[in-house]
Amino acid sequence: MFKFCMKVYGCQMNVYDADKISTDLLNRGWVESDEDEADSVIYVGCSIRDKAEHKVWSQLGRYSDRWDREHKPSVAVLGCIAQNVGKQMAERFPWVELIAGPRHIGMIPDALMEVVESRKKKFLMDEDQRLFLDLETAPLKRNNPWKAFLTIAHGCDNFCTYCIVPYVRGRFMSRPPEEILAEAETLVQDGVKEITLLGQNVNSYGTDFQNGYRFSDLLRDVSSIEGLRLLRFVTSHPKDFTEDIIEVMAQNAVICPGINLPIQSGSDRILKKMNRKYDLATYTATVDMIRKRFPDAGLTSDLIVGFPGETEEDFNDSLKALEKFRFDLVHTAAYSPREGTAAASMEEQLSEAEKKRRLNIINDLQSKIAFEINQQLVGNKYILLVDGKAPKGESLFQGRTPSDKVVLFDSDEESLGRFAEVEIIRAEHWCLHGKILRFLD
Ligand code: SAH
Ligand code: SF4
Ligand code: F3S
Repeated sequence: MFKFCMKVYGCQMNVYDADKISTDLLNRGWVESDEDEADSVIYVGCSIRDKAEHKVWSQLGRYSDRWDREHKPSVAVLGCIAQNVGKQMAERFPWVELIAGPRHIGMIPDALMEVVESRKKKFLMDEDQRLFLDLETAPLKRNNPWKAFLTIAHGCDNFCTYCIVPYVRGRFMSRPPEEILAEAETLVQDGVKEITLLGQNVNSYGTDFQNGYRFSDLLRDVSSIEGLRLLRFVTSHPKDFTEDIIEVMAQNAVICPGINLPIQSGSDRILKKMNRKYDLATYTATVDMIRKRFPDAGLTSDLIVGFPGETEEDFNDSLKALEKFRFDLVHTAAYSPREGTAAASMEEQLSEAEKKRRLNIINDLQSKIAFEINQQLVGNKYILLVDGKAPKGESLFQGRTPSDKVVLFDSDEESLGRFAEVEIIRAEHWCLHGKILRFLD
């Protein structure tokens, strides 16, 4: 029996993978422990920006004392970061003994066992970008009993010029619907009330099937699982968001009207250099289509500032786009060159100081917009799942509106996992404050 400590960085896809690995290890009799006691410390890391990689690098340096004393822990580095820089990590630190790419997930539990017993280094790199070795288990070990992620497609073939994901997660591959539905049912039987379907571009789900089964079909089928109360999905790609998705959403109350539609830039010139395959006009048409059908839909976005060659005018176009679309939330980032991607070798790279300056300006504008939007919601009532304790505040609990806004309210442990009607009493730019009016179950 071995003890493990799981450390997860990056997006929900890594959380999903880490939960599957933990579930499998627990089934094998491994137990979770603190880092200081663990035989195996498992990092599932992200490579999307330099900062994300840096977080793991700085963690890995901390084991030399315990290593000198006990020859422990055995450290595993998994996820996107492993595929990108895992080999360098294993060369630098003697305790990094297992490296495995995201498409080798099915071999990880056996490999962890082997490495902890033999204490020999093992490398499972994704050399064939089409091969996927899955781990046949639902993520039953989760942080949250009521909410679960479910990956519906692996990899990405879009090759946006700034992005490392296609290189570290390999080729696009939809999971068969039967497999997804069976997993969703297992999750619901396990007490899950809210499922979030995951893919780098969920809208292209099924385009690699021959039978015409598409994302909207999957949404319809998953939403009809008995006992599932809320269904969300990320990420939508503006070039592939089609009207059939909106139709299915309109017919199924379980599917939440919250859409993440990353714009990345407000300048057509930069969008072209990013290889996003849409322009502002088609993006606008998609937003109009969504809002016409769902005037109250939550619309969030992602935006990069300081892409190579971004002029002051291009940057102003991004500011104008935020004013125009008035997103509920925007994940903003300064462009971070990723080795091997097309944009990393483009000319006219901006200085870190200039990128930081633009990031501050864009964040200030978006905070102002989000605050204005949220203030309009004061007085509204929403039915939501009380899904956890708020990070701060003794008796503060939280949930999300169907449109995916965080609401904080006073409550107690008893209310966890229940549905409540909440009235919004105050707004901040990043969340709403409410009070519980009644419980529905
Ligand atoms: N598949 C999603 C996004 C995945 S990555 C999409 O197509 O939108 C999540 C976000 O990280 C991206 O939306 C982008 O805004 C940001 N990002 C990706 N690569 C980046 C880079 N090199 N520098 C800065 N931000 C980046
Ligand atoms: Fe990256 Fe573009 Fe794929 Fe999103 S769609 S994961 S940004 S390459
Ligand atoms: Fe990071 Fe990989 Fe997700 S690079 S953002 S963990 S797909």
